[in-house]
Amino acid sequence: LAVDDGLRTGYHFQPPKHWINDPNGVMYYKGVYHLFYQYNPKGAVWGNIVWAHAVSTDLVDWIMLPPAIYPTAPFDVNGCWSGSATVLPDGTPVIMYTGIDGENRQVQNVAYPKDLSDPYLREWVKPDYNPVIAPGPGMNATAFRDPTTAWQGPDGLWRLVIGTKDNHRGLAVLYRSRDFKRWAPAKRALHSGDTGMWECPDFYPVTTSPAVGSGGGGSGNGTKHVLKVSLDLTRFEYYTFGEYDHATDTYVPDAALADGNDGLRYDYGNFYASKTFLDTAKQRRVLWGWANESDSATADIRKGWAGVQAIPRKVWLSSDGKQLVQWPVAEIESLRGAHANVTDTLVAGGSHFEVTGLASAAQADVEASFQVMDLDKAEPFDPAWRGADAQTVCAARGADARGGVGPFGLWALASDEHGERTAVFFRVFKGGDGGKHVVLMCNDPSMSSHADDLYKPTFAGFVDVDIAQTGGKIALRTLIDHSVVESFGAHGKTCILSRVYPTKAVGDKARLYVFNNGESDVKVTHLNAYEMRSAKITSDAVEPTKR
Ligand code: FRU
Repeated sequence: LAVDDGLRTGYHFQPPKHWINDPNGVMYYKGVYHLFYQYNPKGAVWGNIVWAHAVSTDLVDWIMLPPAIYPTAPFDVNGCWSGSATVLPDGTPVIMYTGIDGENRQVQNVAYPKDLSDPYLREWVKPDYNPVIAPGPGMNATAFRDPTTAWQGPDGLWRLVIGTKDNHRGLAVLYRSRDFKRWAPAKRALHSGDTGMWECPDFYPVTTSPAVGSGGGGSGNGTKHVLKVSLDLTRFEYYTFGEYDHATDTYVPDAALADGNDGLRYDYGNFYASKTFLDTAKQRRVLWGWANESDSATADIRKGWAGVQAIPRKVWLSSDGKQLVQWPVAEIESLRGAHANVTDTLVAGGSHFEVTGLASAAQADVEASFQVMDLDKAEPFDPAWRGADAQTVCAARGADARGGVGPFGLWALASDEHGERTAVFFRVFKGGDGGKHVVLMCNDPSMSSHADDLYKPTFAGFVDVDIAQTGGKIALRTLIDHSVVESFGAHGKTCILSRVYPTKAVGDKARLYVFNNGESDVKVTHLNAYEMRSAKITSDAVEPTKR
């Protein structure tokens, strides 16, 4: 069965064709948001990598510009890989990216805008003194990449970190510079872990307030620093946060947090190589991440495209200080159209109902609040699962395995008779640590498509809520976009993005259901499902004023 082109996204960012991966150099500069990204200008598979460029004034509609950074010099002849932008105090933006040089070494280069009066910063100049950072003696020159946004210490020096590895040890190595041109390695790495290569590190301050100060740096007053890395071995990202001492460049993660796959994740699904930026216009930190395809490379070539960016998410520290919280930027709500509404509707154990009234549920934003009526029906948490990751538990108890409390949630991108459906759901167990309930959030795509040749991993994360305290209530928001199901559980505590490829639940054939496969009844206290308009993606024609 062929994958339908009706699976292109309507409001998740993707270029008209070809392969994309990591978001790069994300920034806000003089009223314009810039998104650069890894791009193959020649096809729908990874290769020939350049920095494609798009700009927006609202993070919703995008103007596609010609590639900004592409191989031109010995220091990047074999590719322009990931990197970040830093806005200098005088207002000049600078990009630092990884170039693949003639010997296939990974080196770090800078690029500056050619013309600061061009509002879109279309053209970038690479000074001849590049590379500015080369792998030192004893370093792994083919695993030394993805520089972060730089920050300034109290001594006025710039700092940034670069991802690398030393045998199996992943490292975030620190460099310092006075002028952004000459960089010196610090004696100690900022952090390391026994995890394999660290790609795409990110390092930034957060507080429990979603609104950040315009300085963005800072420490004290409950500020924590987040270190996120991408693990190429498992294709997951994890983060820690803790205390960062600016004077000594020492980072100490909070004791409760683990490095590696047992650590906290931004997203428990298909979300990788992410990067944040400080949005000084709206005083928030915004996270961009890449969602790869999970069909075959052959299918991608046939489609002519591969890869999307997740919806940009606001990110901050939860009020209990135990994890980060994420929420889609409010701007995307401007795409909401007609909506269907459900209130105080009981879903008996073993039943389901369709949310009707949408012209199409293939492109929708669903906000739902559930209430479990009888938490005592929760199954015991199997002690064999202690220490197991959520994905293992969810694989053992998928959407169709009857439970005590749950599985309950949504069938997104469902066909008539729901032969195709992607289940996003919660399941509640009793007997966790301290006798508390354990809440699991899952995305089960095993029934998502009649097509073969698809990779359909079950994704799951635990949700840190005390569901007895909330009176059995738990919230779910799901952004549905043809081949994307991007969910935010418990107001952004647990997030899961999944790529699916229905063959029947396409366009106006796609439906939405609420289901409950548990013994306990569940009440939908309210549910709003909005049709979403498509974002406007335009190419960089002549500017209106010049026509
Ligand atoms: C992550 C990554 C980066 C690298 C880029 C190359 O997806 O492998 O480490 O810079 O992609 O496209």
